[in-house]
Amino acid sequence: MYILLVILRLVHILAGTFWVGAALMLTFFISPTVNATQDAGKKFMGHFMRQTTFNLAMWSSALLSIIAGSILFWFSSNGFQSSWMGSGPGIGYSIAAAFAFLGLIVGVFQNRNSNALAVLGGQIQAQGAPPSAEQAAQLQKIGKALGIGGTLNATSLILATIGMAIARYLVF
Ligand code: HEM
Repeated sequence: MYILLVILRLVHILAGTFWVGAALMLTFFISPTVNATQDAGKKFMGHFMRQTTFNLAMWSSALLSIIAGSILFWFSSNGFQSSWMGSGPGIGYSIAAAFAFLGLIVGVFQNRNSNALAVLGGQIQAQGAPPSAEQAAQLQKIGKALGIGGTLNATSLILATIGMAIARYLVF
């Protein structure tokens, strides 16, 4: 049992670290660079989203962290039954986990919009002409949604990480 908990903690924390780190990198550094570099940025994003294993790595790490975290939660709460659920740490881990789930849900929408942007970027590049009025409007709409989603995603994941880090020290 002890070794199982150690393995679950390792998987949970390593995968969670990758997930949150990659999401923050995408929101605060890669997306602004893509926006600032126009055509080159769209070309980069098209390759990054469709030709690399970034998406797979993101989803695998998010799911691994959530599955391992849920099993740890199950053990800690004795199947959601024990008084641990109403204790400071129990409440802290629950709120932090809720933020992580919110981050995951927003991530699903971010992923859809990033793929839509990559497809649109590919179409514009293939037509060899500047984007039509309709394409420009679509680019703006997707860009705005990605901006809002990115901030929401990053905020949720930062709050989840803060909550996870301090939950065991919450005494009330
Ligand atoms: C953003 C995603 C997440 C990150 C970065 C993260 C990070 C962490 C870290 C660093 C710890 C160790 C805290 C300590 O030992 O004091 C931890 C523990 C824990 N996490 Fe998460 N976590 C995440 C998501 C989740 C989710 C979604 C759940 C449950 C559904 C969860 C459940 C738990 C539980 C129950 C523990 C305590 C494990 C134990 O006492 O052995 N975590 N998490």
